[in-house]
Amino acid sequence: MALKKFPGFIDVHVHLREPGATHKEDFATGSRAAVAGGFTFVIDMPNNPEPTVTLARLEEKVRLADAKAVCDIGFHYGTDGRNAATFAKAAAHPRVFGLKVYLNHTTGDLLIEDISALTEIFRRWPAGKPILVHAEGVQLAAAIALARLYRQRLHVCHISQAVEVELVRQAKARRQAITAGVCPHHLFLTGAARETHGSRAIMKPPLGTDRDQAALWEGLGDGTIDIVETDHAPHTKREKQADPPPYGVPGLETAVGLLFSAVHDGKLSESDVVRLLHDRPREIFAIPGQEATFVELDPQAPYRVGPPYASKCDWSPFEGWQAYGRPRRVRLRGKIVRG
Ligand code: DOR
Ligand code: ZN
Repeated sequence: MALKKFPGFIDVHVHLREPGATHKEDFATGSRAAVAGGFTFVIDMPNNPEPTVTLARLEEKVRLADAKAVCDIGFHYGTDGRNAATFAKAAAHPRVFGLKVYLNHTTGDLLIEDISALTEIFRRWPAGKPILVHAEGVQLAAAIALARLYRQRLHVCHISQAVEVELVRQAKARRQAITAGVCPHHLFLTGAARETHGSRAIMKPPLGTDRDQAALWEGLGDGTIDIVETDHAPHTKREKQADPPPYGVPGLETAVGLLFSAVHDGKLSESDVVRLLHDRPREIFAIPGQEATFVELDPQAPYRVGPPYASKCDWSPFEGWQAYGRPRRVRLRGKIVRG
């Protein structure tokens, strides 16, 4: 068993649920799930019950996170289409890494459907930090067009369909400032999992076809897809049994192990993992360096995904799977935060 040192991994897309839904997760349990999974920097999304669309709510999140998190936490600002007057200050905030815009329905009420409102958002967000979109299918085509018109850097969250990979590939070929992230659940599961997993396979964007899944791996291979992001979206087991269930699956504790299983299978190299979970996220979101910050793991050591989990939601869609490289020790600025 040979432990190797990797840089602290970065997840630019997590839902840590505080404030407003701390029965699902909070900054303490969510950050513990992060370091258990090998992440030392995560960026929290704005779709809380009271969404992060004002500077006061942003400052409240910063305060709450700083009081209890065991890893570094950044934030994406949100928009309800009526807060453009706060964009300049939000974009200049050192803890803000981008603006998240929802073009499809999901958890929370931040959906922007009106084209005038959407255009205004792309017009008013100050250039520099990226606009991140939840945009499925035709909505992605609209977001790419608006980003081009208003010269915004666009990050496509959780790319999931073959056609979306092609849209991003074409935009990159025309030298548009666009990047894309893919989630482990879209890489490792397809819609067939609804048979085996029931509502625990329900998330937004939904799981795709075999063809979509193959296109995602191809997009990782040819550089169309830049990063892996978990979209860690904890909901309790009981909530997931509701009809309809809330969208989302936890991901922080399994992403690294799944990617090293892809290394074991010859689909990725170790340096690909570092690029997808550290180098490119850092570049795209201008994430400050974390000195003396490392994850120690043995990338060739298999383990089985299962409880106990650090996440408050206490389940995983990958339970029982064989993964590789469980993080054994995590150091953040020299201090051991796990292990
Ligand atoms: O499945 C999802 N869950 N997709 C999202 O876009 C949001 C997330 C959540 O917050 O639950
Ligand atoms: Zn999300």
